[in-house]
Amino acid sequence: MSATAYPNYSPGLEGVIGGITTISEIDSDRSSLVYRGIDVHDLAEKGSFEETAYLLLYGKLPNAAELENFKEILANEREVPAEIYTVLKQLPKQTHPMDALRTAYSALAGFDPDYTTVSTDHDANVRKAVRIVAKAGTLVANGHRIRQGQEPIAPRKDLSIAGSFLYIMNGGTEADEFTTKVMDASLTLYAEHGYNASTFACRVTVATLSDLYSGVVTGIGTLKGPLHGGANEEAMYMLQEIATPENAEAWIRDALANKKKIMGFGHREYKKGDSRAMYLTQVAKEIGRRMGNTKWGDIADTLERVMLEEKNLYPNVDFPAAYAYFLLGIPIDLYTPIFVIARTTGWAAHAIEQLDNNRLIRPKCIYEGPHNVPFIPIVER
Ligand SMILES: CC(C)(COP(=O)(O)OP(=O)(O)OC[C@H]1O[C@@H](n2cnc3c(N)ncnc32)[C@H](O)[C@@H]1OP(=O)(O)O)[C@@H](O)C(=O)NCCC(=O)NCCS
Repeated sequence: MSATAYPNYSPGLEGVIGGITTISEIDSDRSSLVYRGIDVHDLAEKGSFEETAYLLLYGKLPNAAELENFKEILANEREVPAEIYTVLKQLPKQTHPMDALRTAYSALAGFDPDYTTVSTDHDANVRKAVRIVAKAGTLVANGHRIRQGQEPIAPRKDLSIAGSFLYIMNGGTEADEFTTKVMDASLTLYAEHGYNASTFACRVTVATLSDLYSGVVTGIGTLKGPLHGGANEEAMYMLQEIATPENAEAWIRDALANKKKIMGFGHREYKKGDSRAMYLTQVAKEIGRRMGNTKWGDIADTLERVMLEEKNLYPNVDFPAAYAYFLLGIPIDLYTPIFVIARTTGWAAHAIEQLDNNRLIRPKCIYEGPHNVPFIPIVER
């Protein structure tokens, strides 16, 4: 039977309200996104990822003293237990960094000093959240070193989350101010986005009164797919396949004629454009100009024009993020893990919100299978 035969059923839960939140709001008509009432562009441009993380976790922007204190706590929590690196060293070299990261967070749970506290303890959850957020950049960058057969590097306490991540990625050299700012802004843009698939999955997990680490592990597993966070990697592989601005128009028209999904385009919530993409496109093009490499931006322009003409679809945040990160020299299979560095804040904020006022999330489903089937003994089957 077709889905439309059921008046209360919406495939993919499209349009279904899954809960109430005070963390972020997507305005599809205005293509805007606010975190706790503050426009994400303002946070990305004038603020820092640390301020954004504080805002998401504590519900307000920090004052100067609160921010300093928060940064110090984050810095002190940035190092990862050596045992976790030992676990990562056991993984086959082909392991995708998202799988390595999911494994690392799973293994980290038992190291948390609040491991045995009940999941509804708000303060313990905030402490866990800060530890989870603090370690993400170190895990991604040192996970990358480990799979290349290199030893982990100690994170830098005096740098921001973005700065320390880039420092390890660069093999112990600080990134320049512009690169650090771009990374920092992209983390803010990626930090939170309402009831997206991974956040919803995270809330479902903690709503059983499981714990924050389990929620984050669920989130990572859900983010990995190309219909969600994995799209930024797929978008870059596509841009590489197109290779030159001259190829772009023919490539995209052929892809659409063959009913291909174009990664980095379309969005369940934004039908008139993704505000994060608009902002990040400017940033990505600025990186290209500074590097004297406008090729990716030129290919992107053509894809955007044809996608709008032919499908009325706009790019989402993953599209400009793909070539921005590429221009910064980040390996492609680390794009979704970078998304994790950012989204640990949103997941944690949602997990805490869920556990502060919990109700088990358990929707119904419609059974379309057979009825009254007799049990046939195995010897007669
Ligand atoms: C994000 C996404 C899953 C949203 O999906 P959705 O709300 O379920 O929308 P649908 O998949 O039902 O798409 C509606 C129509 O637009 C088309 N469409 C949507 N995104 C498309 C894309 N990226 N490329 C080509 N066609 C697309 C669908 O084929 C469908 O067309 P149809 O009605 O002729 O079948 C979808 O746009 C997509 O798969 N995008 C590519 C992956 C991506 O970039 N994900 C990151 C999201 S931040």
